[in-house]
Amino acid sequence: MTKKVLSCLTLAAAAITACGTVLVAPGSHALAQHVVHNGKAAPAEPTHPWMNKALSTEERADMVLKEMTLDEKIELLHGNGMPGWGTPEANAYLGNGGAGFVLGIPRLGLPFIQMSDAAYGVRASAENGRYSTALPSNLASAASWDPTAACSYGALIGSELRAQGYNMTLGGGTNITREPRNGRTFEYLGEDPVLAGTLVGNRIKCEQAQHVVGDIKHYAVNDQESGRNEVNSIIGKRAMREGDLLAFEIGVKVGDPAAVMCSYNAVNGDFSCENKYLLTDVLRDGFHFKGFVLSDWGGTHSTVKASHAGLDNEEPLYDFYGPKLKAAVEDGSISMAELDSHVRHMLYGEFASGIVDYPIQKSVIDVERDLAISRHIAEQSTVLLQNKDAVLPLDRNEIHSIAVIGENADMGMISGGGSAQVDPPGRPAGKWQEHIWFPTSPLKAVEAKAPNAKVSFASGKDVNEAAELAKKSDVVLVFAYQWESEGMDLPNLSLPDNQNALIEAVAKANPKTIVVLETGTAVTMPWVNQVSGIVEAWFAGSKGADAVANVLFGDVNPSAKLPMTFPLSEADLPHPSLVIPPPGASGKEAVMRSGEAKPTFSVTYDEGLKVGYKWYDAENKPVLFPFGFGLSYTTYSYSDLKVSGGHEPTVRFTVKNTGSRAGSEVAEIYASLPEGSGEPPKRLIGWSKVALAPGESKEVSVSIDPKYLSIFDVDANSWKLLPGSYTIEVGGSSKALDLSQKLELK
Ligand code: BGC
Repeated sequence: MTKKVLSCLTLAAAAITACGTVLVAPGSHALAQHVVHNGKAAPAEPTHPWMNKALSTEERADMVLKEMTLDEKIELLHGNGMPGWGTPEANAYLGNGGAGFVLGIPRLGLPFIQMSDAAYGVRASAENGRYSTALPSNLASAASWDPTAACSYGALIGSELRAQGYNMTLGGGTNITREPRNGRTFEYLGEDPVLAGTLVGNRIKCEQAQHVVGDIKHYAVNDQESGRNEVNSIIGKRAMREGDLLAFEIGVKVGDPAAVMCSYNAVNGDFSCENKYLLTDVLRDGFHFKGFVLSDWGGTHSTVKASHAGLDNEEPLYDFYGPKLKAAVEDGSISMAELDSHVRHMLYGEFASGIVDYPIQKSVIDVERDLAISRHIAEQSTVLLQNKDAVLPLDRNEIHSIAVIGENADMGMISGGGSAQVDPPGRPAGKWQEHIWFPTSPLKAVEAKAPNAKVSFASGKDVNEAAELAKKSDVVLVFAYQWESEGMDLPNLSLPDNQNALIEAVAKANPKTIVVLETGTAVTMPWVNQVSGIVEAWFAGSKGADAVANVLFGDVNPSAKLPMTFPLSEADLPHPSLVIPPPGASGKEAVMRSGEAKPTFSVTYDEGLKVGYKWYDAENKPVLFPFGFGLSYTTYSYSDLKVSGGHEPTVRFTVKNTGSRAGSEVAEIYASLPEGSGEPPKRLIGWSKVALAPGESKEVSVSIDPKYLSIFDVDANSWKLLPGSYTIEVGGSSKALDLSQKLELK
């Protein structure tokens, strides 16, 4: 783990303000004497002995458990429906308008758990007449490589959830990018488990500090949306532990989430929510996770098998974890001890997250504060990919005419869809998978930056008209988009809607063309050599346009780096064609054909350990833009690498800002494992984001977690640090590692 992470964690534990602009949730005083009923505080017994915060979380959970009746226990282990999910339950009015709720037990002082999706902001605010800030997508935030930004991200979401009457987030998506066409790539944190796990952990830590139940999802290997309810992900244990599951392991260790959501798909034959290997052997015995496991919505397939495997809570209803669970306990097919362990996990999560001690107190969000946080994170997430002849930053004194081209570039920027969707202010809720443009106008933001220039707009629908405008402008800004959503995968990585032809035509008319990408994953760029500048803005959130304009005009020096590889073409992916369900393999009926729930088709992840850059390195495939790559308006040099400390190494080196602007450099550290280890050529083991004034140098020191140098020994079921010769490399991208030193381990 990097020094940077450690310092953020220390600060986060001490006072959340240090990791962002954030505030501790309202009330640290006599709130323990209230319980939440439907989001409202109601007087409770101040005398409950488990309200004593000096007791350990385990002690408090055990004390409540002893008081509970069987019916109360069952009540805690399932949801009560979600608006729009079948016929509403009689008690639906008790919900807060989110994705579901678990009943509270007022006589014991246990609050309702009011859940909301909150991937990049709180969902469903339009339906509920509320306001939510949209942060840049999760993938964008990973491009910041900044645990402090991840902390601000989580704290903002936590505080907006609570303000709106929720005390649980369903955010925390952490599936590593094995398949970049996955429609939820924007909800995840890229292709590297150490980067993704560290950032999600910091997000969760600061989210939970607001007294909401934090969540990490979708556990596990839910790496594509096509056939997500029917697919069996086939993958080796070593590849899983060192890749997909390592991201969760780090996230659980750093963030200590109160909840883990198991995924829809099956893994090696068993659906994730009834998969003993995942839920017990790895999550409990391997990661020492103490909170509760809830199923993805409709992802529970059984009562006894799921309970034995380790599922604690069924969402959003109780097809298996209501009367059937009670009957199974009564007939002995599930023991009371097993039932109690599920309840204990729920109670642990409730006490650990603070939702018992700090009841929900609805409040008015500080909108301006949160917009400023969103803009700041967007600025740190915007990656400068190409800057020929220093076309950027734009010089507002030199430029007299600017063409802004792109669909809706006059009024907004695209956002990611599905259950992650945040509703923009000023309009009603969109339909499922509607393309939602946030009202953050690139045109207006550019006009504000260059008040003396003539700024003209063309949507680009008419390619000739756009090219004409480009020809008579000093500089051209094309805002290109690629929309994504849960519930679908992209057919390919091309920009849709004729945008490649548009960019080519515009660049031909004026080579001083800069493409700003609003995408949820990598895109291919057949025009890469024809344009001068490329800026990856991702799904940039409520203040995206201001953030991008700040980067384009140099008020912010870009510092973000790609959290995933941009390949040259789909042919270079581990699976050139997306695996889709064959005919007859979709739907509940197909899954239940044998009488027992079974996946109906498979995706075999035979690339194994070789995910993302590890694949391209191992296969010697050139890429469009490598993992960890991103330019700045200044330049950096690296020197004086020293690796010391043996099995717990510390990596020291110097980074110097060799240009004339202040900037922040993400300095990346990779390791190659000894010959014969069976590992891809290199893996990320740490990094540090270093702020440097012009000409300034700093010595950076990063302590490496030995696990990040280890392999997972499947036979021994444990991590192992192999003896032999390691190479430690340091530099500004996975393909620009200027420094190298051997590390011999006995
Ligand atoms: C998604 C989850 C989400 C849940 C509740 C599911 O379809 O996969 O990520 O939290 O719905 O909305």
